[in-house]
Amino acid sequence: MTAESPQPFNARMHRGGKLSFRARLRDGESDPGDRLVLGGTNPPPLLELVPAGSSAVEVEIGPGKGAFLVASTAARPDVFVLGIEAAPGYAAHAAGRLHSSGCRNGLVLVDNGKLYLQDRVPEASLDAIHVYFPDPWPKRRHVGRRFFTADVLPVLARALRSGGFLFVATDNPAYGGQIVRVLGSSRDFACDAGECARRLQLGAGHAFSPTNFERKYVEDGRAIRRYAFRRLPRA
Ligand SMILES: C[S@@+](CC[C@H](N)C(=O)[O-])C[C@H]1O[C@@H](n2cnc3c(N)ncnc32)[C@H](O)[C@@H]1O
Repeated sequence: MTAESPQPFNARMHRGGKLSFRARLRDGESDPGDRLVLGGTNPPPLLELVPAGSSAVEVEIGPGKGAFLVASTAARPDVFVLGIEAAPGYAAHAAGRLHSSGCRNGLVLVDNGKLYLQDRVPEASLDAIHVYFPDPWPKRRHVGRRFFTADVLPVLARALRSGGFLFVATDNPAYGGQIVRVLGSSRDFACDAGECARRLQLGAGHAFSPTNFERKYVEDGRAIRRYAFRRLPRA
């Protein structure tokens, strides 16, 4: 099946990321205003979503309830941030918050983030990709559902421009180790602790913070692992 072939929404959500299909949006669940894009079987390409005049384009995979998306669009009004969320209920919630914030430089798309990067995002078009507290799927039989597996490397490397950044946070030491192993094995990325510290210093909405899971885990006293990986120049 090619990317252009018609396919049911369910099938798209299972391709690539092997996601479980979650409940569809329920009527009246929330008022997402004008910030929600339902990807369906044929999601719009990234370039159709980016407003004219944006100085940079970033993607957040799995924004959940949207705390980072709202903070990042408010902190950097010239940057367009697209949240790609697989769970329609969370996507609607995040889009509603974005709508209420009044920021027009962000959208929430319901789709499988890995697949969208693969077939709707032009090569070298992203300045940053944010992935905060991705589901660790600790059971052996669910490992294929993880976002950070070896097959995601070429997807991330293609979508990011040279010098662009992948920002990741997790509370899970085993998953953190796997992320460092996967990214560390790539000739396309270099871990950049200086950029990690710099972004944190810039404050809310620049990278990493705030997110709902971050708040919960900090309250629980868990250690948070944060990484910045720089896309190295193309050969
Ligand atoms: C543990 S939650 C973290 C939410 C948010 N980033 C935070 O830190 O509060 C993970 C989120 O990623 C979403 N997700 C998982 N795999 C995804 C994928 N392949 N594409 C898009 N969203 C995904 C889930 O639906 C969920 O909302």
